[in-house]
This record gives sequence, C-alpha cells and structure tokens, in this order.
Amino acid sequence: MQLFIEKDYSAMSKKAAQIFAEKIRQKSDLVLGLATGSTPIGTYKELIRMNREENLDFSKVVTFNLDEYYGLTPDNPQSYNYFMFENLFNHVNIQKENVHIPDGRASDIENYCKEYDNQIEKYGGIDLQLLGIGVNGHIGFNEPAEELIVGTHLTDLTEDTIKANSRFFDSADQVPTKAITMGIGSIMKAKKIMLLASGKGKAEIMAKLLNNNLVTTTNPASLLMLHQDVTIIMDEEAASQLKNL
Ligand code: GLP
Repeated sequence: MQLFIEKDYSAMSKKAAQIFAEKIRQKSDLVLGLATGSTPIGTYKELIRMNREENLDFSKVVTFNLDEYYGLTPDNPQSYNYFMFENLFNHVNIQKENVHIPDGRASDIENYCKEYDNQIEKYGGIDLQLLGIGVNGHIGFNEPAEELIVGTHLTDLTEDTIKANSRFFDSADQVPTKAITMGIGSIMKAKKIMLLASGKGKAEIMAKLLNNNLVTTTNPASLLMLHQDVTIIMDEEAASQLKNL
C-alpha cells in the first residue's frame, strides 16, 4: 500500500489527478473505474483543467462507474449518472459510448448486474479504480455486513448512509433506499485502486482502517488491504487520528 498525506483537499485532488493523468498518458485506452460523492469532485475538476490546458486526451478512455441509486432516472439531478456528466464527462473529450454507469431503471436486475461485470471483463478489466469511503467504511455501496457480495448487485442502503447522503436531497425520506453497486469482487479485480479521503468527518474511519492491522466485512474498505496495488491519498484532517506516522 502506498500512502500520501496531503495538506488539504486541493492538494489531495491534484495528487490524485496527477496519477490519473500519468496512467492515461501511458495507455490512451485506459479503463477507469469512477466514483461519485463530494470527495472526487476536485480530482475531476483538475482532470478537466488538464484536458483543456495540457492536452490530456480522453478520446479512447473507457469508464465504469461504481454505483447508482435504484429508481432514479439518469436525468434526475440526484442521480449518479447526472453527477458524472455534470462534474466530468460534459467537460472532457470522452466518447459517450465509452461511458458506463449502472442504470437505476434496470428491470431484470440479476441479468443486468451480471452483464455489467461482463462488460468490464470485455474491456480487459479496470486499470485504475477510484474510490471514496463512506463514514461507515462502505466502498461503492458495499455496506458493512456479515457477508459481502462479490459481483455487481442491488443492495439496501443502511440508515447511516441514507443519513449521510441526505445532504444532497431535500430531506432524508427522499434518499432512495436501494442502489446498484459494483460488488467487492468487481472492485478488487481492478489492477490498481486509489482511495481518497478528505476532512475531519473521515478521520475516524481512516484510523479504523489504517491503525488496526485487520480485515473485516463490517468495514468493507478494510478488504482493500488485501489488494496488491492500493494507493491511499488523504488530507491532513482525514489523517488526524492515524497513529505511527
Ligand atoms: C456515497 C457513494 C460512495 C462514496 C461515499 C462517500 O455513498 N456511494 O461511492 O465514496 O458516498 O461520499 P463523500 O465523498 O461525499 O463523502
């Protein structure tokens, strides 16, 4: 595991974008796994800047998003589809046919999810997977549980997550209670994983993740410790409860 502690959100975002840009420059048809939430917005902004000012080329880049609220249509401003176009895709030269985001309207959900994982395989797997982390340790929408599901699937959101994500909605009862998410196995198959964490609100979960040398499904992010190429980039606030630095 590689750990970078950057001064603040802006420095964290720049570091993350730099690593993304290097990878895209090395392999123009890179397959990216992308995340939503407030954490990656700064990274996406920096990638947009690099696309405009430094010729960072997205024309062959392929993307797969981690998750989507179940029941939201892509044109719903709270949907992750909408988020990705607003915060990245509309501003870079990516080809729309190379963008994959779970569809919150999917009906034959079992087959839909299987097909999502098949598509990832078809493109040769994810080269670089970007992740945020939930305050309860969730990655994508793989919530803490006794058992975790390997492949892409439909999941129930926990109360913690509904509460945390209600800040993007008018009220908590408007937050969907289910989501489609890549499974823990879909994530762990990525060749490289980059986890970002920013702010005091993430200090406790990051301490739980990095201070204790253990793996548990009740902290899904801890499974990343078993991956051979994980880079964690956090800011000083998120790192404020780490020991032995
Ligand atoms: C959501 C997303 C996750 C994200 C997490 C943290 O629930 N499904 O992919 O990592 O929240 O969000 P934020 O970055 O806003 O703290």
